[in-house]
Amino acid sequence: MSCNMRILLFAAAALLAVGPKTYAAEVTFYEDALPILQSHCQGCHHPGEGTPMSLLNYKEVLPWAKAIREAVLLKKMPPWYAEKGVGKKFSNDRSLSQEEIGTLVAWADTGAKKGDLAAAPPPAKFADSWSIGKPDLIVRPPKPYRIPSKGVIEYTYVIVPSGFTEDKWVSKVELKPSKREHVHHLIAWVRPPGSSYFEEYSVGDFFVPSVKIRERRREGEGKFERRQLLASYAPGGIPNRLEAGQARLIPAGSDFIFELHYTANGTAGTDRPQLGLVFSDGPPRQRVFTTAALNSKFVIPPNASNHRVEASLTMSAKAILLDMMPHMHLRGKSFEYRAVYPNGKSELLLRVPKYNFNWQLSYVLEEPLTLPKGTRIECTAYFDNSWSNPHNPDPTQEVRWGDQNWEEMMIGFISLAIDADQNPESVFVSNKPVNKGTPAVTGGNIPAM
Ligand code: HEC
Repeated sequence: MSCNMRILLFAAAALLAVGPKTYAAEVTFYEDALPILQSHCQGCHHPGEGTPMSLLNYKEVLPWAKAIREAVLLKKMPPWYAEKGVGKKFSNDRSLSQEEIGTLVAWADTGAKKGDLAAAPPPAKFADSWSIGKPDLIVRPPKPYRIPSKGVIEYTYVIVPSGFTEDKWVSKVELKPSKREHVHHLIAWVRPPGSSYFEEYSVGDFFVPSVKIRERRREGEGKFERRQLLASYAPGGIPNRLEAGQARLIPAGSDFIFELHYTANGTAGTDRPQLGLVFSDGPPRQRVFTTAALNSKFVIPPNASNHRVEASLTMSAKAILLDMMPHMHLRGKSFEYRAVYPNGKSELLLRVPKYNFNWQLSYVLEEPLTLPKGTRIECTAYFDNSWSNPHNPDPTQEVRWGDQNWEEMMIGFISLAIDADQNPESVFVSNKPVNKGTPAVTGGNIPAM
């Protein structure tokens, strides 16, 4: 640990010590620490979740008492990057209150005592490692993908037919790898029948298309006629749940297209992702889909420490905003979403002051937000291409849009709900660059993702 960090920890601990709550009474694992771990930590820290350790019981937690103290004081854990007190409130906010941090710190500082088992809350249950519960259908590529130990691994795809003879509505969906260590991201796309997307490739084989082929679209083909984002996986992400009456549509005759992106890490491996689907009970009231405001035309100069890039998206019909997920790579520094309403009023929705590439978090609105026709979603990102960014692969390079971690992306994903019988194509007006300098590419068209 650096000296600065030590000072910070010491200062934070001192602050807590003079806080309103004093810990004259004994702080114990079963009574005080375990309930917090259950509600804020075990969701990730249990076997099968790809976390370095399980934190289910005293025996497992004790060796980590000091590390937990530091992780919560520094707010490294649980991972949550939205700035407090600005923007909207989020239903999946996992961060700890000051009092909960104080309790965990006091527990570690007073000998990490066990306490009385009788005072413990009942153990938390984890549903068969699917966070959506048991899927009605699991879709997988026909064979595992072999991940090489080194070299650049290009975006790889595989097409799996759904076999659906009727339209299907999905209320819960989860995509997960079998080998998390290598995963940069995974996406499951839905390819409706008649789509031109990857029409030259055969079903069931892995293939690596050129960026040109990936971006190609038939003249006049709608964005959502070509492909629709169904689910994604990236480190730290959690599948979003939909409200009752909301579902994603998979048209009859669609194919699933798995987009696989791995990063070589020195050891070879295999991965065979699983897409779990839970079908909705009846016809939904609202159709949910994911789109994005993005900018793929930026140029980040070498050594620039605060380079601004903007993107926007304008609604040509009313829609309801459900969640937001900023996406950048290693030079990503901060990200902000605003809604600019037809009356000119601008509202900050989400600010992520310290973006962390290792945690691709989706921020789910506690109260879904109605965006009237004419509302503009504006995303502003800053990139740090200087030496002071410890994650920067090379500050001497000019950086543009690209797949790989040493290239960049600027995407503000959003999920929207519309009437179930409404066409998502009708929700956006044509692209209109708003930014000074680099033009923004907007709309549901996600070019080289
Ligand atoms: C969203 C999933 C998630 C949640 C929630 C979560 N963790 Fe973690 N935690 C991880 C992952 C993944 C790692 C390993 C990678 C890393 O260190 O970032 C980790 C690492 C850690 C470490 C080791 C840190 C280090 O410095 O090596 C500690 C300690 C820890 N978590 C404690 C906690 C505690 C305490 C909570 C709850 C207050 C919590 N975590 C909540 C996913 C999570």
